[in-house]
Amino acid sequence: MALWGGRFSGETSALFKLFNDSLPVDYRLFEQDVQGSIAWAAAITQAGVLTQDECSRLQQALQDLLAEVSANPERILASGAEDIHSFVEQQLIASVGDLGKKLHTGRSRNDQVATDLKLWCQTEGAALIAGLQALHGALLALAERELDAVMPGYTHLQRAQPVTFGHWCLAYVEMFERDLGRMQDALKRANTCPLGSGALAGTAYAIDRHALATALNFAAPTLNSLDSVSDRDHVIELCGAASIGMMHLSRMAEDLIFFNSGEANFIELSDQVTSGSSLMPQKKNPDALELIRGKTGRVYGNLVGILTTMKALPLAYNKDMQEDKEGLFDVVDSWGICLEMAVLVLDGLKVNRANALLAAQQGYANATELADYLVAKGMPFREAHHVVGEVVVHAIAAQKPIEALPLAELQEFAAVIAEDVYPHLTIAACLGKRDVLGGTAVKQVQQALTAKLAK
Ligand code: ARG
Repeated sequence: MALWGGRFSGETSALFKLFNDSLPVDYRLFEQDVQGSIAWAAAITQAGVLTQDECSRLQQALQDLLAEVSANPERILASGAEDIHSFVEQQLIASVGDLGKKLHTGRSRNDQVATDLKLWCQTEGAALIAGLQALHGALLALAERELDAVMPGYTHLQRAQPVTFGHWCLAYVEMFERDLGRMQDALKRANTCPLGSGALAGTAYAIDRHALATALNFAAPTLNSLDSVSDRDHVIELCGAASIGMMHLSRMAEDLIFFNSGEANFIELSDQVTSGSSLMPQKKNPDALELIRGKTGRVYGNLVGILTTMKALPLAYNKDMQEDKEGLFDVVDSWGICLEMAVLVLDGLKVNRANALLAAQQGYANATELADYLVAKGMPFREAHHVVGEVVVHAIAAQKPIEALPLAELQEFAAVIAEDVYPHLTIAACLGKRDVLGGTAVKQVQQALTAKLAK
């Protein structure tokens, strides 16, 4: 039986029930609903609605329900209840009878669902933060293993200047640190308790909302009942943080897919995270990374979904908002598993140092060094840039790297070039010169890594 039957004489249609019921989605709020109910029982007891004995019996019944359902989770969906709040109340009434009917005094499913969902965001948000920290750790470990491996750095997917693999790792460390900060920030803002806001106008009972917030581990109660029951900013912020986080993961995945390609062959992915082709025996496909890249799309989709659902919704609660959970749950599941999968990929990743170095030596990645050399000899940079462009055209035609051109040939482009040019054109020189805060010189990367590891 629905909780709201009194006003109705006709039956709701089966189609409507199917359409309206949210239990198949919001069963995931079970623990939060019980937790909120236990705190609510105490709050209305303090307000004089229940005796201490009634409160104890209700709370005990809620604890028992928690234990029973944990042992037998199918019970929730089998109940056919409208939503998780109805389920908990029905079960309570079944176990303690009329006393169970008193729990909903002064409470609405509107402040209840808002509270449950915020509690859920806190728990799951903490798990995502742990996932980000694990990924952070895996990247630092990889940076440590492969710190001075050299590979080409790219712009426009064209070989630009050599970089160290450790430097590449620490670039993603920066991104994931920002993601971590965004999550912590979002959870801080979501740390307020809506319970006691009633359906929309505030509860009519003398509830100590500060004590209630504290009992549920929130930092404070919310301050406006209309806003409390209709605010879903925390859902949007979590989806937003996840979208940015997935964007970072997708970029890392794309880099690694390319590094792992036959064309680049800078890294090898472990058998644990790759799959074969049913047709082509030689293939070892980077499926884990492609799925990380692919799942980014559904996370963005869910963000746009909830933003669109909330757009222009009048105050206060509207049933539209029931649509908030499916997308949020999918976002949290997707981001969480992608973070875990990324750790597995990084842990098993090997750098093919020789190939990566060879690629860095090709592609005229030291052209900037020759220009800098000319600048040191007194040539204005713009002119040096032009001269080196001509040298590169010549070298391409000769099918040689710049450093393989004899001095006499180089001097045809600029008379100031002398024998001392060659040491400037080595990979070690290219890297070593980027010895500035944030640069790719091994010494700088080592310092950056040490600082991260010390934190
Ligand atoms: N199941 C609803 C939700 O997820 C909560 C119930 C509020 N229902 C209502 N008719 N006011 O948003």
